[in-house]
Amino acid sequence: MSPSPLRETAGLIAPPPDSPMNGQDFLFGVATASFQIEGAVAEDGRLPSIWDTFCATPGKVLNRDNGNIACDHYHRWADDVDLITDLGVDAYRLSIAWPRVINAQGFLNQKGLDFYRRLLDRLAEKGIASYVTLYHWDLPQHLEDRGGWLNRETAYRFADYADQVSRELVGRVTAWATHNEPWCAAYLGYGNGHHAPGLDKVRYATQAMHHLLLGHGLAVPALRANDARAMVGLVANVGDGCPAEDNPADRAACELYDAYQNGWVLDPLLRGHYPDKLWRLWPDAKPLVLERDMEIISRPMDFLGINYYSRAVIRADGENNFNWVHLPDVERTQMDWEVYPQGLQDILERFKRSYPNLPPIYITENGMASDDKVVAGEVDDAQRMSFLKRHFSFCSKAMQNGVDVRGYFLWSLLDNFEWAFGYERRFGIVHVDYATQRRTLKNSAKAYAEYLRLRREKNLRRDRA
Ligand code: FCB
Repeated sequence: MSPSPLRETAGLIAPPPDSPMNGQDFLFGVATASFQIEGAVAEDGRLPSIWDTFCATPGKVLNRDNGNIACDHYHRWADDVDLITDLGVDAYRLSIAWPRVINAQGFLNQKGLDFYRRLLDRLAEKGIASYVTLYHWDLPQHLEDRGGWLNRETAYRFADYADQVSRELVGRVTAWATHNEPWCAAYLGYGNGHHAPGLDKVRYATQAMHHLLLGHGLAVPALRANDARAMVGLVANVGDGCPAEDNPADRAACELYDAYQNGWVLDPLLRGHYPDKLWRLWPDAKPLVLERDMEIISRPMDFLGINYYSRAVIRADGENNFNWVHLPDVERTQMDWEVYPQGLQDILERFKRSYPNLPPIYITENGMASDDKVVAGEVDDAQRMSFLKRHFSFCSKAMQNGVDVRGYFLWSLLDNFEWAFGYERRFGIVHVDYATQRRTLKNSAKAYAEYLRLRREKNLRRDRA
């Protein structure tokens, strides 16, 4: 008997048959972030964020795009929850906009909070677990006006925000992530100016990072005290560094790269100190660290979220520096990022080896951008399906080799505002026509839904047998 077309569709994306990801307790989801999808930037008391300011600064964001409307999710959230439900995912990863829920005096803005209350309640009704990030880069502008993450006080304001919001939303959240990608918030935001607030000194980046991590550590006990049943963790973007040539200099350069890309965030959290190698790269950029800070930062977490997109090919530049090598003739995405699924396995296994107290892992983002178009009602995103299938396969191998990965979220549910690249880069498994706000499932979304449906059926049959 030939397989049905739907089964074939699922096969375009599915992990290998023997993958532990096929078990029902492995969680599959989709992810978004507030500023990238919500729009409604001035509604119900939402205050300006650093990304509103950045978008309004000429030359910062491609095509002068901004978040004013985005995917209009603030108004279309109920339909979007239906979309998520129809995909059949187990979980949805979203973020809360700090400037929506806390007013300038530091008190709760109930109207803003009601939006998330409704959203989380609807998700729960549909049986979808909510993984909530507190800081996905939309810092209230009034805090930036007082120095933003360069100001130690911002760490305390963040913990206070986490405290108030978790008191209100207790019981609705499966997992709290304090920050999304502190590396990007610190380095792209304060170190090279590519992201809001657009400052560009490495010394700023290291101080901003320290305060981001401190804010995380300060928030952890409040989240635990307020919402004892939820998991608490943080989401980090990681990169797999590979030597351009297999020689000692390039291998050493990869270690420097690893300190810069991964260790800068993970070492303080999991080892309680910054990697020494970082100060070889940036000898004059040590942050001011007060006495108990590292203890606070390294408080145990219930999970670590990992966002994986690509690897970096690294060449030595003297003993204390490195350069990126752009390989010709490799598969790339619309972002020009190399497609390198093997890196996901490598990095997961490396983390397991080098961090003895590595918490359980969720892949909180993985996916790719492509220049997707709707043609006769369909979006053929074959590269995305193949991309995901290959990454699922290498994730499975890491799990089979003992890495404790519990779930996998695709970035992203919807095409959305891709930061400095505006709306041009399309990461969604659902296409968004920004002129009409029409959502169209790409073929990857259909295949994902079909895979999840078959997985559920199979596991049910097994449970009954
Ligand atoms: C990550 C961000 C996410 C999205 C993807 C493509 O760095 O967390 O918001 O932009 O990259």
